Amino acid sequence: MSQLFSPLTLRELTFSNRVFVSPMCQYSCADGMPTDWHLVHLGSRAIGGAALVMTEAASVTPEGRISPEDAGIWNDAQMNAWKPIVAFIKAHGAVPSIQLAHAGRKASTFAPWRGQGKVDEGKGGWPVVGPSDTAFSPTYPQPREMSKAEIKAMVDAFVAAAKRSLEAGFVVPEIHGAHGYLIHEFLSPLSNLRTDEYGGSLENRMRFPLEVCAAVREFWPKHLPVFLRISASDWKEGGWDVEQSIEFCKRAKTVGIDLVDVSSGGNAVDAKMTIRPGYQVPFARAIRAGANVPTGAVGLITEPVQAEQIVADGDADCVFLARALLRDPYWPRHAAQALGAPLEWPDQYKRAGVGAFGK
Ligand SMILES: Cc1cc2nc3c(=O)[nH]c(=O)nc-3n(C[C@H](O)[C@H](O)[C@H](O)COP(=O)(O)O)c2cc1C
Repeated sequence: MSQLFSPLTLRELTFSNRVFVSPMCQYSCADGMPTDWHLVHLGSRAIGGAALVMTEAASVTPEGRISPEDAGIWNDAQMNAWKPIVAFIKAHGAVPSIQLAHAGRKASTFAPWRGQGKVDEGKGGWPVVGPSDTAFSPTYPQPREMSKAEIKAMVDAFVAAAKRSLEAGFVVPEIHGAHGYLIHEFLSPLSNLRTDEYGGSLENRMRFPLEVCAAVREFWPKHLPVFLRISASDWKEGGWDVEQSIEFCKRAKTVGIDLVDVSSGGNAVDAKMTIRPGYQVPFARAIRAGANVPTGAVGLITEPVQAEQIVADGDADCVFLARALLRDPYWPRHAAQALGAPLEWPDQYKRAGVGAFGK
């Protein structure tokens, strides 16, 4: 019996298996509007058999976009544009999920294939904010420190985005607290140099992130789960680490977060990362055990047996796949075949899915 292809229930929602689509920016929007690209891209992964299909980082304000081509969920036009995409994902048996994000000091940068570092104001870029006025790197925008009123307004922006997400039909929101973006910037002592109640001690650094989690959770229907993505480590001395992550996840669980999607890095240019297959899985395991919260593992998970082992060994409750699912939208169906698990192909594709000889 495959554990990877066994159901997972969080609150009153049951996922048909434990292969989830990891959020992936497509840099294909104008004014934050999702397009037919998103319909086909996300729709294909639903047909591909993933139990949950998550959007790319969808910004909660225009200034929170990583690049000018990022997706958004800060206005009704975007909400309406997500609706057919969400409906398609649902119609093909997957749970539609949206990653709610604000890029903080790493906003207003080039899409990877358009350039590097900051997009200048007046050339499509905009002024950026962060917990403090330190830039990510010399080639990134110079942030302005957020006032307390702006912090409060940012919590409200996450809630407004959650409201639009629910109205668009999304079933699971994921709060993006990883990769050196705004929420992670507040958590990490490398990027949060504030001296008020939002900086300094761990308690203070967790304040804004927990306010966002609590406010989104309070709004989201009680029978549905809310996810949180974190970077478990800055991979740098004196930065955010797994011990602080465990404390944070304990608190996030208390305010109603149901699953932590455990990534790492993104907040220090000189981070010393060891990248190898499954390199972040030990973080997911440590947080699952230390904070007693369900986790998802992500990062260089590419092989069916590897993914099966992660779930079977109790390292995590599910796996999020990104690049493997770019290469092969049908990865879950191929993995199910490899592991001998039943995962029926859609009727339209059955003639291709019965085996190597096409019987
Ligand atoms: C094209 C691309 C875009 C990405 N965009 C996002 C994003 O919007 N939000 C996020 O949290 N992570 C993003 N990531 C990171 C992935 O979700 C994932 O954590 C990372 O790629 C490691 O998983 P993998 O080895 O399966 O690719 C992106 C990765 C790729 C390759």
